[in-house]
Parts: sequence; C-alpha cells; structure tokens
Amino acid sequence: MRVFSNNAMSLDGKLATRRQDHVALGSDEDRRWMGVLRAGSDGVLIGGATFRNWDLPCVEARGQGPHSPTSPIVNAVLTRTGVGPRESRFFREPRTRPVILGGPGAELAGFPAHVAVHRSEGPSTVAWALDLLEHEYGCRSLLVEGGGDLLFRLLEIERLDELFVTLCPSIVGGRDATTLVDGEGFLAGQLRQLRLLDFRRVEEEIFLHYACR
Ligand SMILES: NC(=O)c1ccc[n+]([C@@H]2O[C@H](COP(=O)([O-])OP(=O)(O)OC[C@H]3O[C@@H](n4cnc5c(N)ncnc54)[C@H](OP(=O)(O)O)[C@@H]3O)[C@@H](O)[C@H]2O)c1
Repeated sequence: MRVFSNNAMSLDGKLATRRQDHVALGSDEDRRWMGVLRAGSDGVLIGGATFRNWDLPCVEARGQGPHSPTSPIVNAVLTRTGVGPRESRFFREPRTRPVILGGPGAELAGFPAHVAVHRSEGPSTVAWALDLLEHEYGCRSLLVEGGGDLLFRLLEIERLDELFVTLCPSIVGGRDATTLVDGEGFLAGQLRQLRLLDFRRVEEEIFLHYACR
C-alpha cells in the first residue's frame, strides 16, 4: 500500500496555532490540490487530535482510484484514548465509510452503529492500523492528512512513502503550535532523509512533493 501525506504548512513549519484550532492556511488552489490527492486515494487517515479539531469528512470521489471507484472512501481515525465526539459531521456523510482504529486502552464505546470500530492488541498500533486498512478495507493508496504527531509515528516506523506539503506565506509562531512532524523527534544520526520529486509555484504558495524512502 502506498502511504502518502498532504498538509498545508506555514513558512515557519506550523500546521495550526498554539490553540490547536483549525486554521485555513492554504488558498483555493491548495484546496483544489487536496481534492485531487484525495481522489487518487482509497482512504484517508487522521490522528485523534485532528479529528477533534476538524470533524469534516473527506468526501471526494476516487476518480482514478485503482480499487473500486464506486465504493465510498474510507475515513479512518487513529486514537490511543478513544476521546472524540460521537455525534459528529464526520459520521453523518453517506459517501464515506467511517472507521475508528483504537489502541489497546482506548475507550471505544458509543460510536454510531454504522461506524466500524477496531481495537489493536499488539505493540505497534500504527503498523496494525495500516495493515488493517490495506488487507480488510482493500486500500492500495492511503492519504494521511496529519497532524504532526501521526506523521512522526509513520516516519518513525518508516511507513510514509511520500510527503506532499504546501508551503503557505504566513507565519504562525508559538512553541506549542503543531508542526509538520512532532512526536519526540529524531536525534542526529536518525534524521529522515527525503528526496525532492517535484515542486511548483502558484502565486504565493509552493507545492512540494518528496519521497521518504
Ligand atoms: N494544516 C494542515 O494541513 C493540518 C492537517 C491536519 C491537522 N492539522 C492540525 O493539527 C493539529 C493536530 O495535530 P497533532 O499533531 O496535535 O495530532 P494528530 O497527529 O492529529 O493526532 C495525534 C493523535 O493520534 C493518535 N495516535 C498517535 N499515535 C498513535 C498510536 N501509536 N496509537 C494510537 N493512537 C495514536 C492519538 O489520538 P488520541 O489523542 O485520540 O488518543 C494522538 O493523540 C490540529 O490543530 C489540526 O487542526 C492541520
């Protein structure tokens, strides 16, 4: 399964403000591009914190998806705690297939009946989640839309293949604001090296595409 991420990032590397609220960093072109990338994936995965901050489902049809162009796009949330709204727009969109992927200790009760809920028993919940999406949900191409903690977890286990970033001309600042990659971070000698595959400038934004492995 191809795993790739897409995020809009401020010039100082942030995805959100220090309040963790949703902030629209990108332009109309960035949103158009997001739709193109979504349309080329079989499923979208986000972290629990992103789910709590921005509960809109990803409805874009899989125009060129190789798996089954008519089945709804998988909208998956990875959570360690299970904390999140049970009544959410995320679950009310018939064009999507909502999936909750919980860690061993997650509180997973109370989600609407049509939501698929899975619990990991093993040590690596992230690897388990990817395997499940690939083998049980038939995802051949998975788009990860953040946030920074989830991206770190994927880079840590070397399961992120490609990274798309829109560099937006704003400064957010704040040492506690989410960055593109958070988690514990890598130390010297562990840095992940990327290869620039493509870039394009559209007005004030730069659209970057990297290979991670
Ligand atoms: N600009 C953009 O393109 C963009 C895109 C996405 C998000 N954002 C912003 O980024 C912020 C959220 O990013 P974030 O880095 O704080 O969080 P995040 O990556 O969205 O979510 C982190 C959460 O993912 C779950 N998780 C991570 N590793 C796990 C594991 N091994 N097992 C089980 N669950 C695991 C946990 O969920 P639980 O906490 O539920 O246990 C963890 O707290 C929000 O403000 C959002 O609006 C911006």
